[in-house]
Amino acid sequence: GTSKLILAIESSCDETSVAVVKNGNEILSNFIATQIDSHQRFGGVVPEVASRHHIEQITLGIDQALKKAAVEPDDLDAVAVTYGPGLVGALLVGVSAAKSFAYAHNLPLIPVNHMAGHIYAARFVKPIVFPSLALLVSGGHTELVYMPAENVFKIIGETRDDAAGEAYDKIGRVLGMKYPAGKNIDELAHQGHDTFNFPRAMEHDDNFDFSFSGLKSAFINTVHHADQIGEELDRKDLAASFQQSVVDVIVSKTKRACEQLDIKQLILAGGVAANQGLRETLDSMIKKDLPELDFVKAPLKLCGDNGAMIGAAGYVAMQHGESADLTLNADPSLEF
Ligand code: KG4
Ligand code: ZN
Repeated sequence: GTSKLILAIESSCDETSVAVVKNGNEILSNFIATQIDSHQRFGGVVPEVASRHHIEQITLGIDQALKKAAVEPDDLDAVAVTYGPGLVGALLVGVSAAKSFAYAHNLPLIPVNHMAGHIYAARFVKPIVFPSLALLVSGGHTELVYMPAENVFKIIGETRDDAAGEAYDKIGRVLGMKYPAGKNIDELAHQGHDTFNFPRAMEHDDNFDFSFSGLKSAFINTVHHADQIGEELDRKDLAASFQQSVVDVIVSKTKRACEQLDIKQLILAGGVAANQGLRETLDSMIKKDLPELDFVKAPLKLCGDNGAMIGAAGYVAMQHGESADLTLNADPSLEF
């Protein structure tokens, strides 16, 4: 028939995920094995530990994804896989598994950029309309990506130092929280107020870049100074102040980019797109200032790393004739 079934594999960081996706917008299965427990005692992702876990989970993941979708390898039209950016050893596990599977079942192999995957998670909500702008906020990236047409990506602004998620995780560590701390801080922030008024770096600069390391330092200095003088700071207010600063900068820059580029749609995606403060603030900004703009948020369950989003991006890549042969290699610093 005309419907396309893709087996999609994601292993760029600390989630081993395999999905079966129909026509790039319907999830038949989405197996996700998270390794977070194994990394928590180290306070971050340990590359060697990640690779080993991926090796242990990948075959099971493929079997489970096919079984849950009630799909046989012969029913598939392609295998899509994340080949970058990410941890090289982790990526190699997914790439090798995808190559073997594609070879064994004589299927086309579609290479997918992890960040394009995050963006195309929006396809599970509604079609993408162009020109579109994607606000990509994750543990490794914070960028504004202009998409004049399908499968065309132009970074118009990005972080000059820490990614937003990275900043959340680092200040979470200072507060004694487990890795990753983003969700915890988000929840705490909702119970507090912005009483600290931390810096909002580059908010009014005439570009679309971000910087979060100054905010991170201001936060850490505040906490350490209080420790030294034996003062107890309100954790809820600390979290709320940090989050307000991050959200304010991201929302003002995104708003300006939307206005200047005259886009039809804004897409919010990446792990930090799960942030309730960011989702709500963007919602109300658009309602008030850009009512004509279509706003699509990646579904909460698909903000973190997952195979389904790779299946969505793989479908688009396949429509554009992209494929790889068995020499496909992992590219840890892949860019758009
Ligand atoms: O996209 P992702 O799953 O992995 C990368 O490709 O980096 O993003 C993970 C990041 C982590 O830094 C985590 O703390 C952050 O997303 N995160 C959040 C929230 N949920 C996850 N940050 C802020 N608020 C949240 N609710
Ligand atoms: Zn990611």
